Amino acid sequence: MYVHVPFCTKKCSYCAFNVSHNGLHLQGDYFKALGAEVLHYLTNGPFELRGVGFDTVYFGGGTPSLVDPSLIADFLASIPLAGGAEVSIEVNPESARRELFTSYVDSGVTRVSIGVQSFDDKVLCYYGRTHDAAGAERAIELAVETEGLSVGIDLVYGSEVEDDKSWSRTVLKTASLATGISHVSAYALGIEKRTKLHYDKAKSQSEDVLAERYLMADEAFEGCGLQNYEISNWACTDGRCRHNANYWSWGDYLGVGLGAHSHFGRSRWWNDPSLKGYIAAVKTQGTGFLAGEELVDSQVEAERLMLALRIQGGLSEKELKTWVSRTESEELLGLFEIVNGRASLKPRGRLLADGVFRALSA
Ligand SMILES: C[S@@+](CC[C@H](N)C(=O)[O-])C[C@H]1O[C@@H](n2cnc3c(N)ncnc32)[C@H](O)[C@@H]1O
Ligand code: SF4
Repeated sequence: MYVHVPFCTKKCSYCAFNVSHNGLHLQGDYFKALGAEVLHYLTNGPFELRGVGFDTVYFGGGTPSLVDPSLIADFLASIPLAGGAEVSIEVNPESARRELFTSYVDSGVTRVSIGVQSFDDKVLCYYGRTHDAAGAERAIELAVETEGLSVGIDLVYGSEVEDDKSWSRTVLKTASLATGISHVSAYALGIEKRTKLHYDKAKSQSEDVLAERYLMADEAFEGCGLQNYEISNWACTDGRCRHNANYWSWGDYLGVGLGAHSHFGRSRWWNDPSLKGYIAAVKTQGTGFLAGEELVDSQVEAERLMLALRIQGGLSEKELKTWVSRTESEELLGLFEIVNGRASLKPRGRLLADGVFRALSA
């Protein structure tokens, strides 16, 4: 289950996520609506779990760490969870407090994902973040010291104010913390519409520079025991995020909250994107449902391929050879490595993943 928590104190310059920066006073109503929506799905339709619980829950945002932790605790107490469930929550560094992390663990949370973005204050300022590098490091320390919590961080690279030295500092700092953190996500900066960076006509670095930054990160993370398992994600053996792995392997999931997306079999549907609209929709119809679609065979096949290319070992050797044989580009095979009959893009191949997908699915 994905739970969207849309509240933020201010909008970061790059962020196009669906968030509200003046709606925190509605957090109680919002969590009531979330509870009602889950109950609706548990008693109607595809997510009647019949005695089984959710295997993973992911509180994403927005800034879930802004809301009163008792709302997270009550929500988790009200839903069926499978034994050994993975429960993740996104935390912004400025929210980090020892008691917050302890209360999360007491409520059943097993991992936190801390939005560090960079260890360079100049870059953080450009992103409009409300924390500095020292604050991010303190947040990581507090989370790592909390027993029972697995800790991951998010990074973003490729802004125009970042040079090689700056990114190298962020990567080396991350590697030096790798005994405590078990997961890193590193995303190339996207200049999305309706963000401050887009209005300011900001540029990100060239594709060649982004590629160098990616390879620098990959080498450093692999060197300290964090293995790449999806294009933008590295983890130690037990640190992989099962929730996201389910998305990438075309699993079913229920998304609750405003704008959340769900997937079951061939159906996909999504919720009303506005805070008041979502709360009102749950009151009148039991869910925030706005619209949906049924996928046809060709869409399912293409999406499964696109996702399989992103993850390590996503295709069997036989599947890869079948896909490649439909093209006139046998040399594509050189971008992959095969281990135990499973195919993965090599680091340089990952840089070309979109092109490989287009070539295979043409
Ligand atoms: C839901 S967002 C934010 C979670 C949390 N509020 C935070 O700020 O850390 C999850 C992650 O997506 C990444 N992200 C968001 N917008 C991005 C963009 N335009 N380009 C690259 N990465 C982005 C950031 O690393 C962010 O931490
Ligand atoms: S990056 Fe995180 S804190 Fe910043 S606006 Fe987006 S969701 Fe909110």
